Amino acid sequence: MGRLFESLRRDVRAARERDPAARSGLEVVLAYPGFHARQIHRLAHALHRQGVPLVPRLVSHLNRALTGIEIHPGARIGEGLFIDHGMGVVIGETAEIGDDVTIYQGVTLGGTSRRRRKRHPTLRDGVIVGAHAQLIGAIEIGEGARVGAGSVVVGSVPPYSTVVGVPGRTVGVRFPDDRPIARLPDPEAETIGLLQDRVGDLEARLADLERARERSGRGVGGRL
Ligand SMILES: CC(C)(COP(=O)(O)OP(=O)(O)OC[C@H]1O[C@@H](n2cnc3c(N)ncnc32)[C@H](O)[C@@H]1OP(=O)(O)O)[C@@H](O)C(=O)NCCC(=O)NCCS
Repeated sequence: MGRLFESLRRDVRAARERDPAARSGLEVVLAYPGFHARQIHRLAHALHRQGVPLVPRLVSHLNRALTGIEIHPGARIGEGLFIDHGMGVVIGETAEIGDDVTIYQGVTLGGTSRRRRKRHPTLRDGVIVGAHAQLIGAIEIGEGARVGAGSVVVGSVPPYSTVVGVPGRTVGVRFPDDRPIARLPDPEAETIGLLQDRVGDLEARLADLERARERSGRGVGGRL
């Protein structure tokens, strides 16, 4: 019982530390659907582990109706999870979530396989998943990694890296103290940069040619 109480306190602390809008612990307990969903999932998961048929699914169904957050009773979740806003979050049966993870609304931890095996993502400690990011398959999101809002991630992500876009690509690596340690090459941005340089170059050459034509007195439409 003491351990459960300590876990609840840690969940409240997680919301207060990670949401600047949270004014008090009481507000989190009474008005944060992510907090409610986590506690109801504790019950569903405990029943699931004891092999109780059907009831865990009913509890998780009720959870979804109350909070807008769907967590399969089988999903394994660590301490200090903070689900902010929460509406539309889906966490699949074989998903695993470490400690101190933050998930925003609309996030899916989904499966790709129809076979009954590990088929949902594993999120290591300290991961942040931005709003409406879709993480699909038995992939691993490394400790402290950050997934940008709206990303679609179908491959594993190294620890402390930032992944954005569709499909998700790593754009940087950041230490826990928030100090960036690397900007990784972004091939798409590099290609666009090269094309912009090329267009600038061609515009400059065209301007030179037009000036030369004007100087030679042939005017617009004349031969160069
Ligand atoms: C990804 C995220 C965690 C930022 O990480 P970061 O390490 O600070 O990264 P930066 O802000 O320096 O951005 C790095 C690059 O990724 C781009 N980027 C950042 N977030 C992005 C996103 N969600 N989708 C696409 N590109 C994104 C930036 O434009 C930047 O590109 P540039 O290098 O070409 O300028 C953050 O942008 C994010 O999406 N957080 C989720 C927040 C959220 O969902 N809030 C909901 C509140 S209700």
